Amino acid sequence: MKNLIAGNWKMNGNLSDAVNLAQNIVQIIQNEPQLLEKNDFLICPPYHHLVPVQAELSMAVSIGGQDCSPFDNGAYTGDISAEMLKDANCSSVILGHSERRQYYLESNMFIRQKAMMANEQGLTSIICVGETEEQREAGEEQDVVVAQMLESLPETATTENTVIAYEPVWAIGTGKIPTIEDITAMHDFIRSKLSEKLENANKVRILYGGSVKPANAAEIFAVENVNGALIGGASLKAEDFIGIAKAS
Ligand code: PGA
Repeated sequence: MKNLIAGNWKMNGNLSDAVNLAQNIVQIIQNEPQLLEKNDFLICPPYHHLVPVQAELSMAVSIGGQDCSPFDNGAYTGDISAEMLKDANCSSVILGHSERRQYYLESNMFIRQKAMMANEQGLTSIICVGETEEQREAGEEQDVVVAQMLESLPETATTENTVIAYEPVWAIGTGKIPTIEDITAMHDFIRSKLSEKLENANKVRILYGGSVKPANAAEIFAVENVNGALIGGASLKAEDFIGIAKAS
């Protein structure tokens, strides 16, 4: 399976930054089309940048949301629906990112409802899971991750519409990553637990996220059950984002 190289732009940049970044990414891929042999590309800009950024993209790069509402269109101030993301040509949506779990107290049940809305619209849900530093120190990382994953996956989840992103909270934006042995163990574990829930679980992409950069991407991608990366900071520079794909 091709690696999914997914950029999570978070709440960064203004419109011209977003358009420039998208143009630069597309330009590099056009100059180096062999990158598409091993990689699929996805970028997830802030909501109001979706449409202008989409206008810059070629078929080689898809676009996604960073979150969606658990509700259908209606009186939900501040929300964006899965239907609206679909209307903006999104293929996917990131759900349950640790920043949303931490700052907005999103529960697994809430994320599950969002994933259901996303799946109903034909969007792929990128469901994020990951332990805190304290949970890892207490040896609870597998229990935490499996509970987050199984409780967040709706009945509508299939091999085709689901991606799991393992992002240890303590590795996000810190420059720290787990050892390759720890990444291997967690991704193998996620794969085995997924197969209890989904048929053909070996076809589901499991991304690693947390301080991925060009310098560490090759060793991470060499892990059998790592099928791409969810990239925050390094996705804001076209050269770094593409540099990570080159490590595939
Ligand atoms: P980071 O963020 O690459 O900046 O660590 C990853 C993420 O939050 O998805």
